[in-house]
Order: sequence, then structure tokens, then C-alpha cells
Amino acid sequence: MAEIQSPDAATARVFFALWPDEALRGALTRASQCLHGRHGGRLMQPDSLHLTLVFVGQVAAGRIPDLMAMAGAIRAHAFDVVFDQAACWRHNHIAFLGARQCPDPLLALVKALEQGLRGLDIAFDQRPYKPHITLVRNADCSRQGDQEEGGKENPALGPICWPARDFVLVKSSLRPEGARYVELGRWPLL
Ligand code: 2AM
Repeated sequence: MAEIQSPDAATARVFFALWPDEALRGALTRASQCLHGRHGGRLMQPDSLHLTLVFVGQVAAGRIPDLMAMAGAIRAHAFDVVFDQAACWRHNHIAFLGARQCPDPLLALVKALEQGLRGLDIAFDQRPYKPHITLVRNADCSRQGDQEEGGKENPALGPICWPARDFVLVKSSLRPEGARYVELGRWPLL
């Protein structure tokens, strides 16, 4: 007899993020090509570029409606964040854009999501928040350019302003060619 699986047996790998509009994606893609020229490695696909807010990881699929309801109840302000660093982290071999100033409303949004997750008793990645946009994976950080842990300003790329007006919940499926992301929900910032 076929085994009957509970719907909660299925899990999904999810995270909250800011997702760029087309104009911003174009600017990020140009920056990624610049960093790829500098560090080699594997370019992120343009339609995969994002800023992670909170990485949740594996959750039971049956809990996704709870995550959506929690996100929908958040009242957080819109903000602009300026990405004015281009750097490479040796510990995980990613080349990324970073923000020297983390705007208060961005941190408030991250904290609200973390608090909501705690309220739902859903575990998440609790590392201190460092806003960064991964542009290249498997990067060679020993090659020319900004090699410091934490990064420094790279005038060649110029600052990129991200006007954050909404946030998303994304499902990630890991594939040999890189993760594939599907948007599960989107909520406005006020
Ligand atoms: P990264 O780009 O620095 O790897 C999807 O994996 C997104 O969640 C990526 O932006 C990734 O950041 C981020 N993330 C944060 N913590 C993670 C973790 N513990 N495992 C995988 N991805 C994580």
C-alpha cells in the first residue's frame, strides 16, 4: 500500500529579501560584470540578484501561510539604501556590494521579521545583519581590487542607490547551475 504523507512532511528553503526592479537589476548586473572581471568565479544570474533580509532556511511547507500572515502584518517604513562598497569575502568566496551605512528603517524591517519568526517559533539564521548583495560566487579574492574582509569603497563602480518600497518571501531550490528563486509573497513598505 502506498504511504500517505502528511502535507507537513514537505519542506521549503525560504528567505525574506528585497528584490530589485528592472532598472536596478541593470545597474547590479553591470556591477557584477565588473567584479567578475576582477575576481573570476560564477556570476549570479541577473534575475537572481537580491538583498537578503532574513535567511530562514528549511521550513515545513505547511508553515508558509504563517510566514505570509506574519509578513503581511508588518508595518515598516520605505527607505533608500546606498551600496557604496565592492569587496570580496575570502571565507566564503563571494564578491558583493555592501552598504557602509545600514539605514535605520532597513534594520527595523530585519528586526520586525526576526521578532515575527520568534513569535512563530520558526528558527532562522541569527548572524549579525550585514547588508550585502552577492554578485559573484567562487570568486578569487586574492586577485586585484578590494580584498579586505569587510570591504572598502570602490570608486570604479560608483554607489548604487536601492529605493526599497516592498519586500518579498522567496523559495530557493538548489540546482547544480545555481539556486533558482520563486517569489511566494510581496508586501509594501509604507
Ligand atoms: P549569500 O549571498 O551571502 O550566500 C539565499 O541563499 C540567500 O540567503 C543568499 O543571499 C544568502 O547569502 C542568504 N543567506 C544568509 N544566510 C544563509 C545561510 N545560512 N545559508 C544560505 N544562504 C544564506
